[in-house]
Amino acid sequence: MRKILKVVGLILGVLLVAAGGAALWINRGLPSYAPKRIDLHVEGTPERVARGKRLAAMLCTSCHTDPETGKLTGKRMEDVPPEFGEIHSSNITRDPEHGIGGWTDGELAYFIRTGVRRDGVYVPMYMVKLPRISDEELSSILAFLRSDDAWVAPSGVASVPSRPSFLVKLLSRVAWKPAAWPDHPIERPDGRDPVALGRYLAHDVLDCYACHSADFKTLDLEHPERSPGYMGGGNALLDINGKVIYAPNITPDEATGIGAWTEAGFARAMKGSFRPDGTPIRLPMPRLPELTDDEAKALYAFLRTVPKLHNERRQGASYDLGGPEVTGGQRVYYKYACQGCHGTDGKGVADLRGADRKYRTDEELIAWIRSPSRLRPGTKMPDWDGVISEPEYGPLAAYVRQLGQRSGP
Ligand code: HEC
Ligand code: HEC
Ligand code: HEC
Repeated sequence: MRKILKVVGLILGVLLVAAGGAALWINRGLPSYAPKRIDLHVEGTPERVARGKRLAAMLCTSCHTDPETGKLTGKRMEDVPPEFGEIHSSNITRDPEHGIGGWTDGELAYFIRTGVRRDGVYVPMYMVKLPRISDEELSSILAFLRSDDAWVAPSGVASVPSRPSFLVKLLSRVAWKPAAWPDHPIERPDGRDPVALGRYLAHDVLDCYACHSADFKTLDLEHPERSPGYMGGGNALLDINGKVIYAPNITPDEATGIGAWTEAGFARAMKGSFRPDGTPIRLPMPRLPELTDDEAKALYAFLRTVPKLHNERRQGASYDLGGPEVTGGQRVYYKYACQGCHGTDGKGVADLRGADRKYRTDEELIAWIRSPSRLRPGTKMPDWDGVISEPEYGPLAAYVRQLGQRSGP
């Protein structure tokens, strides 16, 4: 008996040492791979720069725009779940030291497609990968990053290194792998078949399936349609205040998906960020005013073809509107989900704490809130004209004005 115990003890001891060793090995950091040398030299034609800017506005700015500089100098990613660690996006301006000015086109292309940085380190799911975007569109993004656009003007703001959690390091070793570099040229579908264009946009460019399936951790990156709960929603995401918000079901199920939506209603949801019932669609759902009408139609046509899933909408964390402490302008601010983009403290994607000084009169401030797209075409702020009722504007403007006094910029 004593002998058996001794043997069991020995085995346990060996296992413990092995587990400890594995933990140490995982904790060393994210895995590395040898990046392939890609021979690519993109010519920055004006068409490419313009196309690339449109793509960057849809694909990169939500994570890389720093509200303090207004440029792609990076920021703390408040909407990455804390279980994944403390994540910061990088400075990707042309700055040679702090940005990506020193990267070659081949290094950038390889990283954006596969997730393997030029130093070999694999960057997991908190940075998008575009393994199947067309060659021309990828080149256009690079042309834009090299251009003299103000968003990428060299800026000496240093990137803050991310601190991925043990879980992310573990998954990066056992579950997630870099995407493969394609072995053939990739072209964008020409649009004659809207369903094919829609599938390309939803799977290969705009990543709709990644947020709208069951869970980030179980996605099938190579065959998106095989992801569990494909397009059926339920994935628990975080908004910029760190509160849970569930991705809804966007299969054509009439009761729980968007089967009852019209094409026009869907297009407004994508480009204008309002549902057919008039309620605002909040971040992290991207706002896509850049989408063309044909692209919105193609997405709609494609989403009609995905298998229906019956999956009830789940209510995320609420910003309690019922409490007696929430009155007047603050109530309006929450009613229209201003905090979804600007934060409960006014510090979100665009800092509202300077608005009081910037907008001299309430007329000016209200004119902006009513229709920002008229004053700044292409802006990511939705137009509220016809949504917010007239008597609500005054208290809302007053509430916005005092945000700066509460915390000080
Ligand atoms: C979902 C958020 C997100 C989106 C969208 C995103 N990025 Fe990133 N990106 C990150 C994060 C976070 C990092 C830092 C990763 C790390 O910790 O190493 C990063 C890092 C990078 C780097 C590496 C920079 C360096 O010095 O290591 C480049 C280049 C880059 N991103 C380019 C892009 C481009 C181009 C786009 C648009 C096509 C884009 N990113 C879209 C989050 C994002
Ligand atoms: C970064 C994650 C993310 C991505 C990418 C994303 N969505 Fe969403 N989407 C969301 C979240 C979260 C909501 C819920 C917003 C809310 O509750 O206000 C949402 C809401 C929606 C809605 C409203 C549905 C309803 O019933 O309320 C539609 C339609 C939609 N998304 C379609 C798409 C399409 C099409 C794409 C690709 C072009 C896409 N989404 C990409 C996260 C995402
Ligand atoms: C979908 C995200 C989103 C929502 C929702 C949103 N905003 Fe904005 N808002 C923005 C962005 C982005 C900007 C910066 C505009 C730009 O530079 O193009 C902005 C700018 C502003 C500004 C101007 C700030 C300045 O310094 O000039 C004000 C004021 C403002 N928003 C108020 C509001 C109010 C009030 C609400 C709610 C009714 C609201 N916003 C809802 C995204 C949003």
